[in-house]
Amino acid sequence: MTDMVAYETHGAVAVLRLQNPPVNALSQAVRQALMQGMDRAEADPGVRAVLIVGDGRAFIAGADIKEFGKPPREPHLPDLCDRIEASPLLVVASMHGVSLGGGLEVALSAHYRIAQPEARIGLPEVHLGLIPGAGGTQRLPRLTGAKAAVEVITSGRHVPADEAARLGIIDRVEAGDPQAVGLACAQALLASGAARRPVSEMPAPAPIDWDATYAKVLKKGRGQLSPAQAVRAVQASAELPFADGLAAERRIFQELMATDQRQGMIHAFFSERAVSNLSELASVAPRAVEAVGVIGGGTMGAGIATSALLAGLSVVLVERGQTAAEAARARIAGNLDGALNRGKLTQERHDALLGQALEVVTDYAALADVDLVIEAVFEDMAVKTAVFAELDAVCKPGAVLATNTSYLDIGEIAAQTSRPSDVIGLHFFSPAHVMKLLEVVVPDQTVPDVVATGFALGKRMGKVAVRSGVCDGFIGNRIMRAYRTAADHMVLDGATPFEIDAALTDFGFAMGPFAVSDLAGLDIAWAMRKRLAPTRDPRERVGRYPDTLCEAGEFGRKTGKGFYLYDAGSVEPNPEVMELVMAERAERGITPRGFSPEEIQRRYMAAMVNEAAKIVGEGIARRPLDVDMVLLFGYGFPRYHGGPLKWADLQGVDTVLADIETYAREDDFFWQPAPLLRQLAAEGRCFDDLNKAPQT
Ligand code: 3HC
Ligand code: NAI
Repeated sequence: MTDMVAYETHGAVAVLRLQNPPVNALSQAVRQALMQGMDRAEADPGVRAVLIVGDGRAFIAGADIKEFGKPPREPHLPDLCDRIEASPLLVVASMHGVSLGGGLEVALSAHYRIAQPEARIGLPEVHLGLIPGAGGTQRLPRLTGAKAAVEVITSGRHVPADEAARLGIIDRVEAGDPQAVGLACAQALLASGAARRPVSEMPAPAPIDWDATYAKVLKKGRGQLSPAQAVRAVQASAELPFADGLAAERRIFQELMATDQRQGMIHAFFSERAVSNLSELASVAPRAVEAVGVIGGGTMGAGIATSALLAGLSVVLVERGQTAAEAARARIAGNLDGALNRGKLTQERHDALLGQALEVVTDYAALADVDLVIEAVFEDMAVKTAVFAELDAVCKPGAVLATNTSYLDIGEIAAQTSRPSDVIGLHFFSPAHVMKLLEVVVPDQTVPDVVATGFALGKRMGKVAVRSGVCDGFIGNRIMRAYRTAADHMVLDGATPFEIDAALTDFGFAMGPFAVSDLAGLDIAWAMRKRLAPTRDPRERVGRYPDTLCEAGEFGRKTGKGFYLYDAGSVEPNPEVMELVMAERAERGITPRGFSPEEIQRRYMAAMVNEAAKIVGEGIARRPLDVDMVLLFGYGFPRYHGGPLKWADLQGVDTVLADIETYAREDDFFWQPAPLLRQLAAEGRCFDDLNKAPQT
């Protein structure tokens, strides 16, 4: 035995206790120790049953994800599960915390399962681009039936213990020490003469409409392979003998293991955790934050206030006048009503948040005691600097002063105060109480504990916080401008906005860029074009037709008309758009050409990767993974591609560079390759190498 699994006997029961913190992942050493534990129990003359339990916060969180992509080492997990199930001893699993993936598969190989009331179980492999690979797709349906198994496996959700018991996955839910409860269960089973009960010997599940289920899951996954493939694996459990079903599961698992999607999903898993892990903040304590001020209660301010309230913070919101204050309170109430209706909030808490925790005022003096303020007033430097001068006058020393500006220079805003080192950007995304991304934008003069406070606030609000330096648009909006420009150029040259949207939803985006513009409001980009016009380089190609739409008051969804027409739930391309586009092409002397969906995707992605590489090269983003997480959590980038720079690595950095160089032959102003892209290609390195390098 290694120290990964402790062995002890209690009467006729041998206890195998996993000790692989933090979550008892099934590394090779753990698998081997479990095998040896089973051998030892079977060789132990007095032992008639085995209890498997986990130390620490979880039973088992699954296979060790860090081992994926490396040569597999024996004993393999499916063999371990088969060995446990085939044991002549009675095997009981006692589950607490989470039992996920291979962890649940180990439990399904036991003959009886007992769980703590707060335990959660699941087969989340689809979120890693995989399917369960150690019998989960064959054993689960034998306990729950095919329909429930398909739902649990394709959603990858964590199922609470009581529901798992109702579904037949767990035999009993009982509170207590997991080992004590499990021992009592095993001893009672032995006393009652209970027989071994291998799930593999249970009847196969009844069939369901497999093709319809497959099609439905495939559509929902927007191109993600693993959930749909999981349906086929469950189908095998209904149609094949157990051993053949296992072989089918193994084949699909191994095929998926070799896909880019698996690499993309696992990159996302680790990056999501690494993104807020900044070496410079390792020993910096954040400032305490319990009371938050929000300035402006429009779209963003109301969302930010909602998010803060839901995180248990008290909020003082300042608006310009009584009518605006009432509107702000109504917006927040609407957001909280939504949370109540979705079951995220009890009526009592809803009322307490709106009653005691929220104060909406018109006087800045009410901010005297807040620990942190987030300004979300109009995107106008004069308005913002006036607000910051007020904040400087009323806020207590040490309060963090943050702005939610999308584009403006935060250093300039900070300079309006006597305490620029306490000023930071906290850039939320709309709707702010829903979207997970938070860009923590750090001007040069900001002190580290203010940065740490931004990250701590993000964590408390359940956000994925990403550090960004100051530049026009920070990480996300600056990249968006680049890929959006590539899309606009394709429209001028011959593609339709609708072809572009379709090609990009095929790529896996939730929406194409033109549908996104309609949702955000075309007036936002219009205002930005006007802002940038005076400093624009004459070589830049900017279409005029979107301005014409805006001049006609067509701002997208909110006016019912934009790139698309919105009428009582129906969405159709707006025919006026192509009339305007064709007129502009004629005016510019452009002979339109066709763009295949593949070319659309490659150009769009090349623009995204190129700008992202510039952002990393300039140090605006610390690491490529920071950019990847911004796009994933703020811009609907498909998780199964991992992020734009992971996608670039999977294509080959040199391939993406070659695309850019090809496009540069038509327009060498827009398509200037990022120096970092050239450097990586020349050195035969990839973006992920920079994620692994120590931060400076
Ligand atoms: N393998 C390796 N490391 C793991 C892991 C796993 N399965 N699960 C979690 N970890 C690591 C995390 O990377 C993190 O490491 P860090 O501290 O160095 O950043 C640490 O454990 C703690 O994880 P979290 O920060 O995520 O802690 P939480 O409490 O928020 O969440 C969790 C715990 C719910 C277990 C979450 O980590 C999780 O969802 N893990 C993945 C579970 C999973 O997908 N299991 C299936 C694996 S695939 C499989 O089993 C294949 C089989 O069918 C053959
Ligand atoms: P909005 O127009 O919906 O709301 C602005 C609010 O600020 C209004 O309610 C207004 O009454 C109030 N206000 C103006 N001056 C004020 C003052 N001096 N004191 C107190 N309140 C004042 O604008 P929105 O969309 O909420 O944007 C706010 C900020 O957030 C802008 O800087 C914007 O760039 C940024 N942002 C917007 C996003 C979006 O999708 N709308 C996304 C991310 C950031």
